[in-house]
Amino acid sequence: MFNIILFGPPGSGKGTQSEKLVEKYGLIHLSTGNLLREEIANKTPLGIEAKKFMDHGQLVPDEVVIGMVDSYFDKHKDAVGFLFDGYPRTVAQAQALDKLLTLKKTEIASVLALDVTEEELVKRLLNRGKSSGRSDDTNEEVIRKRFSVYTNETSPVADYYKKARKFKSIKGEGELDEIFASLRQAIDKAMASHHN
Ligand code: AP5
Repeated sequence: MFNIILFGPPGSGKGTQSEKLVEKYGLIHLSTGNLLREEIANKTPLGIEAKKFMDHGQLVPDEVVIGMVDSYFDKHKDAVGFLFDGYPRTVAQAQALDKLLTLKKTEIASVLALDVTEEELVKRLLNRGKSSGRSDDTNEEVIRKRFSVYTNETSPVADYYKKARKFKSIKGEGELDEIFASLRQAIDKAMASHHN
C-alpha cells in the first residue's frame, strides 16, 4: 500500500488537489470533512453531533473522527493506498492513524503540506461560501476560528511528521496545474523510495 497525507490550513486546496491526485494514482480519497458532511446530510446521530462543532469552526472530538476513519478504512480492503485529506488534525489522531496502519502492515509514505497565506485563504473561503452551502464558509468569524484551531491543535501534527522525516512543504498559491505538478513530483519521488 502507498499512503499519503495532504496537509494544510482550511482553504489551502486539499480537496481540489485530492480530486486530481486520486484520479492520477488510483488512491482512495479519505476526507474526514466530506465524510462528516455526508453524516450531516443523512441526519445520522454522528452527523447531528458533529454539526454542533463544525458550525462553530471547532474540531469534532477525536474519538468520533478516529472511529469513522477506522471503519472507512476497513470498507476498502483492496485499496492500493489512501490519500488522507483533512486527517489527522490532532496529534492523538496522528497516533491513532499510525496504530491503524501498523496493524495493517503499512505506513504513511509522505505528508505534503500546502503553504498559502492567511489573507488568500480567507478570500478563497468567503468566495466559496457564496455557492458551497457550507455554513462554516459564510461567516468570517468562523473562518478565523478555524485558523486559530489549525494553529493551536493541528500545526503540532506537522512537527510530528517532521520528526519522522516525512513532511514536505509545497507552494499552494498559483495555478492549479502548477501546484498539481509539484505534488506529483513529490509523490513520484516518495513512491520510488517506498517498499511496502
Ligand atoms: P474540512 O472539510 O476538512 O475543511 P477544511 O480543512 O476547513 O478545508 P476546506 O475544505 O475548507 O479547504 P481545502 O483545503 O480542502 O480547500 P479546497 O480545495 O476546498 O473540515 C470542515 C470541518 O469538519 C472542520 O472545521 C471540523 O469541524 C470538521 N473536521 C474535519 N476533519 C476533522 C478531523 N480530522 N478532526 C476533527 N474535526 C474534523 O479549496 C478552497 C477554495 O479555494 C475552493 O473554492 C477552491 O476552488 C479554491 N482554490 C483551490 N485552489 C486554488 C488555487 N490554487 N487558486 C485559487 N483558488 C483555489
